[in-house]
Amino acid sequence: MGDATSFKDLGLANTREMFRKAMEGGYAVPAYNFNNLEQLQAILTGCAESNSPVILQVSSGARKYANQTLLRFMAMGGVQLVRDLGSNIPIALHLDHGDSFELAKDCIDSGFSSVMIDKSSLPFEENIEISKQVVEYAHARDVMVEAELGVLAGIEDDVQHEVSHYTKPEEVEEFVAKTNVDSLAISIGTSHGAYKFKVKPGEEPPPLRFDILEEVERTIPGFPIVLHGASSVMPEFVNMINEYGGKLGDTAGVSEEQLRRATKSAVCKVNIDSDGRLAMTGVIRKALAEKPDNFDPRKYLGPAREALKQLIIYKNEKVLGSAGKA
Ligand code: G3H
Ligand code: 13P
Ligand code: ZN
Repeated sequence: MGDATSFKDLGLANTREMFRKAMEGGYAVPAYNFNNLEQLQAILTGCAESNSPVILQVSSGARKYANQTLLRFMAMGGVQLVRDLGSNIPIALHLDHGDSFELAKDCIDSGFSSVMIDKSSLPFEENIEISKQVVEYAHARDVMVEAELGVLAGIEDDVQHEVSHYTKPEEVEEFVAKTNVDSLAISIGTSHGAYKFKVKPGEEPPPLRFDILEEVERTIPGFPIVLHGASSVMPEFVNMINEYGGKLGDTAGVSEEQLRRATKSAVCKVNIDSDGRLAMTGVIRKALAEKPDNFDPRKYLGPAREALKQLIIYKNEKVLGSAGKA
């Protein structure tokens, strides 16, 4: 296998055991995105302190922003940081929204323990074909593969779909059988980013399509399901951003109650990025506004990192149920 690095050499775990235990225990493993040092520190120390398994996610945008080689070494250093803290939590390194076989292969060869191949916007047969190709390469190296059926709306750096399409439960069994993927992301009403639902102030967002999730569970019992776009868009941080000069419009996220309900089902992995972005941005804006003479990045990135860490502990303990499950 040439110069390839196995995730095992980096001290990482794949998601097989994580998902098996999450399914059995009725909780979900958190998947948090990272792009920089402070996010990585917050995610890992937050998960170590709450004794939660964790999936570190890297998007194509993160690879471009932070440099793919540096990110991998950061993850490796992160494992050491956690072990130095005396924690033995399992840590997976996952490619978020991989859009080609080549990208997935590159990540697998450089030590990722899990990859997503997201070809959900292509016709069903093409999605099967590419997902299957990734699975064959990944499984030969004990790396797990997540694929997607149905499309989530949302505009972020590299994840851009204007309209969403719910997953069709009647397609799920054939897809899983033909591709042999290890987990499946489905579309049940969430979307990426901070504007998930169009609601007037004070109105509740519509509930997720639990009927679709239940139908999927009936079709492929015990199979790990992934929920993307699972930020709650916490008003505390949206308000903080707006109070200190930001201009966010009518944001809305997935309620914690809906997320708790999802974690009790076959949903084994929950993806959260936007909530962390909002928390860090709010705290940075506040720190800069309160100390306009400060020009030391540690004095605004430090509090932002701490806020993200507390948010992660909160999510693990109160929303996903992963705390204490490592
Ligand atoms: O689902 C997308 C993640 O939030 C990553 O976003 O492509 O802007 O890094 P990004
Ligand atoms: P949010 O935008 O809700 O944080 O979702 C993140 C995500 O799905 C990453 O893949
Ligand atoms: Zn996503």
